[in-house]
Amino acid sequence: MENIKAYVDTHKERFLDELIQLLKLPSVSADPAFSQDVLNTAEKVKDALLDAGCDHAEVCETPGYPIVFAEKIIDTSLPTVLVYGHYDVQPPDPVDLWNSPPFEPVVKTTDIHPEGAIFARGACDDKGQMYMHVKAMEFMTETGQLPCNVKFMIEGEEEVGSESLEWFVKNNKEKLANDVILISDTGMIAKDVPSITTGLRGLTYVEVEVTGPNRDLHSGLYGGAVANPINILSKMIASLHDENNHITIPGFYDKVVELSREEREEMAKAPFSLDSYRNALGIKDVYGEKGYTTNERNSIRPTLDVNGIWGGYTGEGAKTVIPGKAYAKISMRLVPHQEWQEIADLFQAHFESLAPEGVTVKVKPHHGGYPYVTPIDSDGYQAASKAYEETFGKTPIPQRSGGSIPIVSLFEKELKSKTVLMGFGLDSDAIHSPNEHFGLWNFYKGIETIPWFYHYFTEQKKS
Ligand code: BES
Ligand code: MN
Ligand code: MN
Repeated sequence: MENIKAYVDTHKERFLDELIQLLKLPSVSADPAFSQDVLNTAEKVKDALLDAGCDHAEVCETPGYPIVFAEKIIDTSLPTVLVYGHYDVQPPDPVDLWNSPPFEPVVKTTDIHPEGAIFARGACDDKGQMYMHVKAMEFMTETGQLPCNVKFMIEGEEEVGSESLEWFVKNNKEKLANDVILISDTGMIAKDVPSITTGLRGLTYVEVEVTGPNRDLHSGLYGGAVANPINILSKMIASLHDENNHITIPGFYDKVVELSREEREEMAKAPFSLDSYRNALGIKDVYGEKGYTTNERNSIRPTLDVNGIWGGYTGEGAKTVIPGKAYAKISMRLVPHQEWQEIADLFQAHFESLAPEGVTVKVKPHHGGYPYVTPIDSDGYQAASKAYEETFGKTPIPQRSGGSIPIVSLFEKELKSKTVLMGFGLDSDAIHSPNEHFGLWNFYKGIETIPWFYHYFTEQKKS
């Protein structure tokens, strides 16, 4: 793997160019208007995997968007790495807050990325990170250094709950058999502070609907006499946290395991500046559950957030009206041992109980997912750690992330293998936000680090 640096250097322009082509396709899985683009993206990923040296690649049909599967089996007695990633992206909205169109990638420098960063929806989450694996594969096959077998499984519904992937995994266990799963769909602490993600939160997502009178009413003639669904919904939502910002749903914390003092002390060693955190977000102060630090609040603690709320008149000017209905989308991030269906049930029972007689409440559960925590003494983690030492000259810090990749716990259950989360994004990359970007330095560093993982993982399995 010694010549990986030189290989990246020689081909970096082409790598970037190829990624730009991929980012031009608006593969928004949430919006049916983009379905043809999603399908085209799957084809493009398949072609890229063949070009990178896979012996076989296919676009596998599912009840939803297809899954791209590819492989190169060099010797069945050698270990097999299964790479997972996703080619779908979040909707670009709100589009007018982008400085350049979301699907017309441009390279610009930022304070954090003086080498340049590529701005486009999906640049970091996850096309850019997924493509690092395709190019690492190219390097290993082109230079005859692929040390083991490789499989790729790149899906198109991650951003909408990976429903088809669950079906695919359950029905293709043999095809997907592997010794370790490798994913780059998370972040790291900073460019000079490499880290490996050891935990992901679970998720319960629900939509609520509050119905009041059978039509929108004049807010003067009826105001004060009937329940206003927006007023009521706001009250109900506000009551879901107490004065210490604990969640008030009965039973919500029952299965949550408190971390030991040692574990919390270990976590607190990771470099973190509250000042930079506040500055980066443009806020005067942080806010959250009493008794926990910012890094604990956003990783080891469960949370509840409203993602969207609507109803009534939101157009130009003023309209005096009591709306007939109000709606909200609410997500809960979960930590180990919380079961997402159970939390959905607890939420529903509690939320319905909050409603006064003047309204009716409907709770519609969406998708969910299990949390994941992985030990650092596994072969996979150790191989990844050595890989970072090789290219960053530092031992990476294990870090639990607040985000979710629900499919990871399913992999462990169905395929019985551990997942290694080698993410190269930064918190400042603005994933899911306007002006998402991915540092070119991070992109190339990822391509450089990945082959070392294959090297050390194979070495460990042989010994
Ligand atoms: N790649 C993210 C998850 C992520 C990002 C984990 C950064 C850790 C660090 C993934 O694409 C994502 O956005 N997942 C969704 C969940 C899904 C069910 C919609 C999420 O976390 O909101
Ligand atoms: Mn992702
Ligand atoms: Mn995402």
